[in-house]
Amino acid sequence: MDLIVAHDRAELAKAREAITAKGRDLLTPRGRDHLTARDREGLTEEHVDGTVALVPTMGALHEGHRSLIRQARERADHVVVSVFVNPLQFGPNEDFSRYPRTFDADLEVCRAEGVQLVFAPAADEMYGPDRQVSVSAGQMGRIVEGAFRPGHFDGVLTIVLKLLHLVQPDVAVFGQKDAQQLALIRRMAADLDLPIEIVGGPTVREADGLALSSRNRYLSPEDRQNALALSRALFAGAEERAPSAVVRAARAVLDQVPIEVDYLALVDPATFTEVKDGYAGEAVLAVAARVGTTRLIDNVVLTLV
Ligand code: PAJ
Repeated sequence: MDLIVAHDRAELAKAREAITAKGRDLLTPRGRDHLTARDREGLTEEHVDGTVALVPTMGALHEGHRSLIRQARERADHVVVSVFVNPLQFGPNEDFSRYPRTFDADLEVCRAEGVQLVFAPAADEMYGPDRQVSVSAGQMGRIVEGAFRPGHFDGVLTIVLKLLHLVQPDVAVFGQKDAQQLALIRRMAADLDLPIEIVGGPTVREADGLALSSRNRYLSPEDRQNALALSRALFAGAEERAPSAVVRAARAVLDQVPIEVDYLALVDPATFTEVKDGYAGEAVLAVAARVGTTRLIDNVVLTLV
């Protein structure tokens, strides 16, 4: 089955129907033998598992996105990838207009990874001129990364909720690379009772430690070298045991390179509030810095005892 590309809601609705209907045709022999129901509602889990997983992206797909697509494939029968550079999550002085757009290459990636449907709407398809209502990320959207990008997480949650409503997946997969985004999406799913399983996938890195990012292509060779300080700092922090020592060790690495650090924070993975000495359990050590003109973020998960 070739990859279907939908550019608006009508095409998406038709394609969404088609991929799950196709799923019925492609039932395993066991499923086919037992198939008597004529519509999806009539099919018990035992008969057919025509589940859908969504991987939301802004395109410029790289190995990190690919790993999420693979995890989506493991968890559902059909994978939908959305490609949409969401204007709502960019601040007025951020890189919306120069965000990389590589749609043809993205389709190739999706095809190679066995994606059934790509949803790639235009901005005016997603946001009408009379738009009023949006999602608030609350206080948790205003701390750490949110403190440097006012409104960013409101924009992320708004588009993610819209995509979830449009695609109606059973599972949605997000990267740990954007740890606060993942935590907020989990929070939204809990607070707004979304009937969707939220799955987090580990951060994919270059061999030298740099976390893959669509923005890495903007790094000059010198920036690329300096950018390594982020992952090096996080790994140095992860060697320590006490929260204050974790932060000190990471800071010492960052201090050695000419980059502008927005924050270095050791936080609770679920709430993104800072953890202090005496804390035990999982924590996220997160960093954001401007390297040349490119702003990068990274984090590691560590267990404090
Ligand atoms: P984007 O930056 O394109 O990322 C899409 C997904 O890929 C996110 O879940 C992100 O965490 C994940 N990802 C990015 N780099 C990764 C890496 N190196 N390893 C593993 N996963 C990685 O995040 C967004 O888009 C947007 O905010 C979006 C959720 C699509 C809403 O607009």
